[in-house]
Amino acid sequence: MSSTLDDQTVVVTGSSSGIGRGIAREFASRNANVVVNSRSQERADDAADEIADETGSVVPIEADVTDADSLQSLVDRTVSEFDSLDVWVNNAGINIRGPAEEMSLDDWQRVIDVNLTGSFIGAKLAGKRMIEQGTGGSIINVSSMMGEQGQTGRTPYNTSKGGVNNLTRCLAIEWAEHDIQVNAIAPGYIQTEMVSDARDQIGFDEKDVVDRTPLGRFGTVEEVANCAAFLAEKEHFMTGEILHPDGGWLSFGWGSKS
Ligand SMILES: NC(=O)c1ccc[n+]([C@@H]2O[C@H](COP(=O)([O-])OP(=O)(O)OC[C@H]3O[C@@H](n4cnc5c(N)ncnc54)[C@H](OP(=O)(O)O)[C@@H]3O)[C@@H](O)[C@H]2O)c1
Repeated sequence: MSSTLDDQTVVVTGSSSGIGRGIAREFASRNANVVVNSRSQERADDAADEIADETGSVVPIEADVTDADSLQSLVDRTVSEFDSLDVWVNNAGINIRGPAEEMSLDDWQRVIDVNLTGSFIGAKLAGKRMIEQGTGGSIINVSSMMGEQGQTGRTPYNTSKGGVNNLTRCLAIEWAEHDIQVNAIAPGYIQTEMVSDARDQIGFDEKDVVDRTPLGRFGTVEEVANCAAFLAEKEHFMTGEILHPDGGWLSFGWGSKS
């Protein structure tokens, strides 16, 4: 089946697991050239091997999103491998939980560095390359519905994702003249290692999420990946938009679900 992503070159940061790996697989299934990324070459290799049965080409490249030189090298190696850069997905993310009054500045900074500054560096380098290329492009930031909500014990994470939302809007306006569309996906609860970590570390109860979600379940990696492909295909009039695959969580205020 042909797709508008045929032979487009896509980088997905933090795609060794979870949502990032699912997005990489979705793009590869639509015949794109996909760069899979992790801080570890071994984990990137494993993810690329697992996706290799899809029709697109998949190349694993190690890089740390908090290190601008490392991300520049990711851009350069992508272009040398595939001759272009068309879609960049800022997916890498971490969460460090704890009471705000006990939170160390190192932990605060680590979350901001990966989630917010890492997204800025990735977008800046990808946007520069797309502007030089002159063929437009798509930048997709994986935010979180928690970027629009307060929560106990998640101050750095939720603040970083609020920043990612406004980063998305600012870059969308600035680069519209270059036909670079910048959008975000802000998912609700999706079953990944990040959620299993929360269960293991803080006794997070998955039933509470199911009960609070109007659709009555967790979202899947594939559902988020579909949103990424939709945004990347640019067959819409959206830029600076934040999509919420959250099962209705943000729309639900108070009272019975039914
Ligand atoms: N799961 C959810 O419910 C949910 C909901 C809303 C938003 N999100 C967002 O979705 C994104 C993916 O989360 P996930 O649930 O799929 O988590 P995950 O399975 O823990 O995946 C996180 C990914 O980020 C990578 N990563 C972390 N730090 C990195 C760095 N400095 N440089 C490069 N890569 C780095 C990890 O790769 P390595 O460890 O191999 O380097 C891994 O591939 C995050 O931005 C998260 O905030 C998740």
